Amino acid sequence: MPKRKPVVVVTRRLPEVIETRMRELFDARLNETDKPPTHEELAEAMRTADVLVPTITDRIDAGLIAQAGEQMKLIANFGNGVDNIDVASALRRSITVTNTPGVLTEDTADMTMALILAVARRIVEGANVIGAGSWGGWAPTWMLGRRITGKRLGIVGMGRIGQALARRANAFGLSIHYHNRHPVSPRIADELEATYWDSLDQMLARMDFVSVNCPHTPGTYHLLSARRLKLLQPHAILVNTSRGEIIDEAALAAMLRAGQLGGAGLDVYEHEPVVNPKLLGLPNVVLLPHMGSGSIETRTDMGEKVIINIRTWMDGHKPPDRVIPSML
Ligand code: 8YV
Repeated sequence: MPKRKPVVVVTRRLPEVIETRMRELFDARLNETDKPPTHEELAEAMRTADVLVPTITDRIDAGLIAQAGEQMKLIANFGNGVDNIDVASALRRSITVTNTPGVLTEDTADMTMALILAVARRIVEGANVIGAGSWGGWAPTWMLGRRITGKRLGIVGMGRIGQALARRANAFGLSIHYHNRHPVSPRIADELEATYWDSLDQMLARMDFVSVNCPHTPGTYHLLSARRLKLLQPHAILVNTSRGEIIDEAALAAMLRAGQLGGAGLDVYEHEPVVNPKLLGLPNVVLLPHMGSGSIETRTDMGEKVIINIRTWMDGHKPPDRVIPSML
């Protein structure tokens, strides 16, 4: 750790209070334009900075990491998911990688629940009728959605966000089912009244709602493959607030277009910010632009975590949110 203030390159605008504190603590190179840096600008940062603070919009791949100067010691990601970073390459170069877990759990779970409600109860469709000025008045059989209470929700990935979703879904009267690498502890399973499915295939085939809440790793890429999507019941509603890459987006779009699924609520996409055009214009599909953690409170807390990780590293300690290979 250098005696001088560390040079910290931040790739995007962060909440003002975070940027102010970063200016005080570090030799902070902030991005006032908020324009995502080019590959060359990122390479320059790797060559010259002590710490890089990237976000999901920056791909920190092996090629960039290979260009890191001796002084580059920490990649403090502003985000929980680290699939934008080649963590193995970074660790091989003795560059520590940290993320921001925990602080975006509740907001992301809220957004997941919001998508379940929006698709099942046709909230966006209804709002659009009012917006278009075309509401002809109430009618007993018009704009009917699907009930949530009493239905089955299958959660793919029962980590922090999956569990926070389960708590909310319990309150809405959904029964909780989940697939995970391992069952959660008996105490949590009891609290959430959650049923563990060792077989993802078998769970998918029996759910009314399915929510994707696992991280994107090499092992979860297209976990919901075309074959697995076909196991879903034709009325099932699929929501994803995790990462687009976990679902075969083209296969999902084709099924939705063919009317083979009840609907979908997506906050994330395989090739962000590009959204598969086949997903557009479908009444039973609600699409959001990656807003799951988008509250001022969460984004500020994420920034706090980044600062704490950098400060702990500056003090010669292991940053609290180190990403270790077994997490990938
Ligand atoms: C963030 C997210 O907005 O933290 C994550 O993993 O998906 C988002 O909520 C984004 O990743 C910031 O880098």
